[in-house]
Amino acid sequence: MSKLTAGVIGAGSIGNVHLSGYAASPKLVTIKAICDVNPARLKIMGEQYKVAAEHLYTDHKKMLAAEKLDMVSVCTPNVFHYPIAFDAIKSGVNTLVEKPMVATMAEARALKALAARRKDVKVMVAFSHRFFGMNMTAKKMIDRGVIGCPFMIRVRYAHGGPYPGWAQSDWFYHRKYAVGGALLDMGIHAIDICQYFIGPIKSVAAIVKTLRKPIEVDDNAVMALDFGAAKCLGCIECGWTSPPGFSGIEIYGDKGSLILDLVNGPKHIHGVARPDGSVETVTDPIPVSGNQYHWGLQLESWVKYVAGKKTVTEIPGIEAGCSSLAVALAAMESSKTGKRMNVKSA
Ligand SMILES: NC(=O)c1ccc[n+]([C@@H]2O[C@H](COP(=O)([O-])OP(=O)(O)OC[C@H]3O[C@@H](n4cnc5c(N)ncnc54)[C@H](O)[C@@H]3O)[C@@H](O)[C@H]2O)c1
Repeated sequence: MSKLTAGVIGAGSIGNVHLSGYAASPKLVTIKAICDVNPARLKIMGEQYKVAAEHLYTDHKKMLAAEKLDMVSVCTPNVFHYPIAFDAIKSGVNTLVEKPMVATMAEARALKALAARRKDVKVMVAFSHRFFGMNMTAKKMIDRGVIGCPFMIRVRYAHGGPYPGWAQSDWFYHRKYAVGGALLDMGIHAIDICQYFIGPIKSVAAIVKTLRKPIEVDDNAVMALDFGAAKCLGCIECGWTSPPGFSGIEIYGDKGSLILDLVNGPKHIHGVARPDGSVETVTDPIPVSGNQYHWGLQLESWVKYVAGKKTVTEIPGIEAGCSSLAVALAAMESSKTGKRMNVKSA
């Protein structure tokens, strides 16, 4: 099989992660083109990944028209995901789009309709948290019934915010580019992982606030979730003002608990019957094998998916992009109205 060709649109911090992911599969894929509206950044990334100047673009439409690509990554600020992913899918290129997939439910519906017309095009949303080894192992344990039926999931995804040291500019703090703050950044990962483990979220009640940072968008949010027929509730806390502390997921089931601690590693807590009939609580570390670098594994899975190889884990597609956005936007609405909102996906 001839090698696949890849392009990256938006060569900032996460664009660099995607580029290094493609570069890590040299037998399967070649980086053919890069696009970024910032010529200085484009030059740096072109040199780093040995992409010749004639394959560097500041306009994604020109890149899509001029290059024959098997796949692209869309890694721009949030508001540009929709027009760029739309153009890429329409032109027949397999598309990996960063989270949040798009910014409005109208965009989600339009992208879903386009993808339904272009069934030949593979689409993935970069829900990278699904690719943490411990989350992949936990998913298998839940599906095998190891903790029984989950009735509560709690997720805390919080850090000090995207600056200093991460993004190329301060777009994350501006509504015009980001649409939302910590909720659309960290919260959307948490929403996706809750739906991955438990199933569709049916309703949400939320408080979304700007507590500390002098910015236009939220820096902290809490969400209470109801999974309806799955008979499970959930709680998400996400934020951009957190000192180092617990970050991860707790899942409580009828037969045991999973503590998926991003800092200290994962644990399985369960009861073991003693000979006298009493129950001893046992804490087992969860052995996790394979690639712990979630972004690397995500890109490896995407490349294998496009190459038609057996994927390492299931691929989050358009449905995951639509349903996670629907929950996030319902949470924002709940915070504004003070009401619990039913979730209606695209
Ligand atoms: N999955 C994850 O874990 C993860 C982590 C970080 C960021 N992200 C997502 O990745 C996206 C980018 O975030 P980032 O942190 O890399 O930001 P960044 O500022 O570092 O990079 C964005 C890049 O896009 C370029 N750009 C802007 N508009 C463009 C356009 N129209 N066409 C081409 N290039 C354009 C900018 O010049 C910049 O270089 C966001 O949607 C963010 O939510 C995902």
